Amino acid sequence: MKVLCFASQKGGSGKSTLAASVAVAARQAGERVVVVDLDPQGSLAEWGRMREAKRIVFREVEPSALVRWLAETRKVKAVSLVILDTAGTFGPEVDTALKQSDFTLVPVRPSALDLRAARPTVERLKSLGRRFGFVLNATNPITQARTADALAALEAGGLVAPPVADRTDLRDAAASGLGGVEVNSAGKAAAEIAALWQWASAQMETST
Ligand SMILES: Nc1ncnc2c1ncn2[C@@H]1O[C@H](COP(=O)(O)OP(=O)(O)OP(=O)(O)O)[C@@H](O)[C@H]1O
Ligand SMILES: [Mg+2]
Repeated sequence: MKVLCFASQKGGSGKSTLAASVAVAARQAGERVVVVDLDPQGSLAEWGRMREAKRIVFREVEPSALVRWLAETRKVKAVSLVILDTAGTFGPEVDTALKQSDFTLVPVRPSALDLRAARPTVERLKSLGRRFGFVLNATNPITQARTADALAALEAGGLVAPPVADRTDLRDAAASGLGGVEVNSAGKAAAEIAALWQWASAQMETST
């Protein structure tokens, strides 16, 4: 069983959106997925309730109960992937999630402020000795140069996943209980999220 975490101290960077969509892409790729919302705000709760019927299990777990919950879940052979959505804060609760994960994706929006805001999360991951990668999120499909600049800046600091553009499909997905992949399965959002999942999956394979 693999554990994939989404973490960034920066609020609104796209942790919950990407966690939900990647979960659907992973499910479509044959994984048996449980999505865990560790954020006390419960931002994925609504999505999760709508999701239960669609063959992705959703759980809200108290951060203090995570280690025990994961140990129990590992015994359930039917689960192949756990995706952790964490709160946009910093502290022991998020540390636990980082330590329990095979790989962490750090979503970053393409602005100088956001790039800077990702630093504390990255420093924490490095000091914990955890493997991680950035994912440039909500890029503007028109202004490619800006995306290229932001990618170059990220590459200087670690591994970088294929980027995800600002897509209406992803905004709609969260509200409707879908992953961007399902809103429009032939759309660009679906292709980007599938590429992100494949990249993350390969990273998790190499971490064992
Ligand atoms: N690639 C994208 N395309 C379009 N909208 C996006 C994208 N990524 C995120 N959003 C939108 O940005 C907002 C913030 O995203 P989200 O809630 O996923 O961030 P978060 O990192 O989980 O925030 P928090 O730290 O508050 O939990 C949401 O309204 C979401 O729909
Ligand atoms: Mg969130």
